[in-house]
Amino acid sequence: MSVAKDILTLGIESSCDETAAAVLRGGRELLSNVISTQIPLHRKYGGVVPEIASRRHIVNVMPVIDEALRNAEVALPDIDQIAVTYGPGLVGALLVGVSAAKALAFARNVPLIGVNHLEGHIFANFLSHTELKPPFMALVVSGGHTALIHVIGYNHFALMGQTRDDAAGEAFDKIARVMGLPYPGGPEIDKLAAAGDEDAVDFPRALREKGNYEFSFSGLKSAVLNYLNEMKMKNTEANRADVAASFQKAVIEVLVQKSLEALSETNLDTLVLAGGVAANSALERRLREASAEHGIHFYYPDKILCTDNAAMIACRGYYQSRAGLFSDLRLNAVPGLSLQNVEA
Ligand code: KG4
Ligand code: ZN
Repeated sequence: MSVAKDILTLGIESSCDETAAAVLRGGRELLSNVISTQIPLHRKYGGVVPEIASRRHIVNVMPVIDEALRNAEVALPDIDQIAVTYGPGLVGALLVGVSAAKALAFARNVPLIGVNHLEGHIFANFLSHTELKPPFMALVVSGGHTALIHVIGYNHFALMGQTRDDAAGEAFDKIARVMGLPYPGGPEIDKLAAAGDEDAVDFPRALREKGNYEFSFSGLKSAVLNYLNEMKMKNTEANRADVAASFQKAVIEVLVQKSLEALSETNLDTLVLAGGVAANSALERRLREASAEHGIHFYYPDKILCTDNAAMIACRGYYQSRAGLFSDLRLNAVPGLSLQNVEA
């Protein structure tokens, strides 16, 4: 066994409303994965309240790290390196994880690795599929981002396109909110849509011209809001399941079409789904069907690794460390961090 295989990486994640820590052996063997979610805390406000999130991260971060070490049956002195999300995300939330990671790395005199949260989402797939290797096309769909990323190598990416406005998850959450569904709305719409007719309402699909890998969901969001308002003005009860299913179909159709086009343009035969919206059952099914039809190998992470977690951060950190991509103790939170190691 090579030395690298035995490396223990502690991952820390606090970019939004999950405080998480994980211990990874080598690049792909997950020893523990602790996620403390704040969802119930933010639910009564209909979304994440940044200040409350930061404060709760402060309370949770050390107990969560302790639990991750305990579950992995290791102690802090066993940890070889510490990987932490430093962006994108909420600045106050990110700072908690970054500060904890810096303090621990300094105290233990071990390397620190700043990780891009989006890249982390992609790397969740390496944990669920140990045989997966670059190159591949990654469709990243989360609450904050929607992007098609050509993963050329473990530390080499090319951005095909991203959203101009709302992220896919954000659109799910906003539509759910106006329909009176609790936060986060994605899983609620997913459930409601299962009982609806996805062809009931013909909502618009934006930027469909070939070769355009940008996304836009704000027009779709307005169309759904207008539809619901029109129904209300006519004193007609909208069929909520039909609206949810039709909205979901409009999102999925664009995601599938652009993924297939990006694969074909780059001559790739592997598609990897990542981010919180990867947990959507209809999206996973459609991509699986479309991939089978076009001879594409399709991967998506285990459900627990789709939404925010620190296992994916530890994994991304491990591959950065193999390439010598470390941070120093000046590492700071970068809320608007864009994809790193991209092709010019
Ligand atoms: O990746 P993630 O945990 O956080 C960000 O990095 O943004 O993604 C959270 C997003 C939320 O918008 C949530 O509504 C959405 O993922 N989501 C889903 C489902 N599960 C989570 N969207 C659609 N269907 C789901 N089953
Ligand atoms: Zn995320």
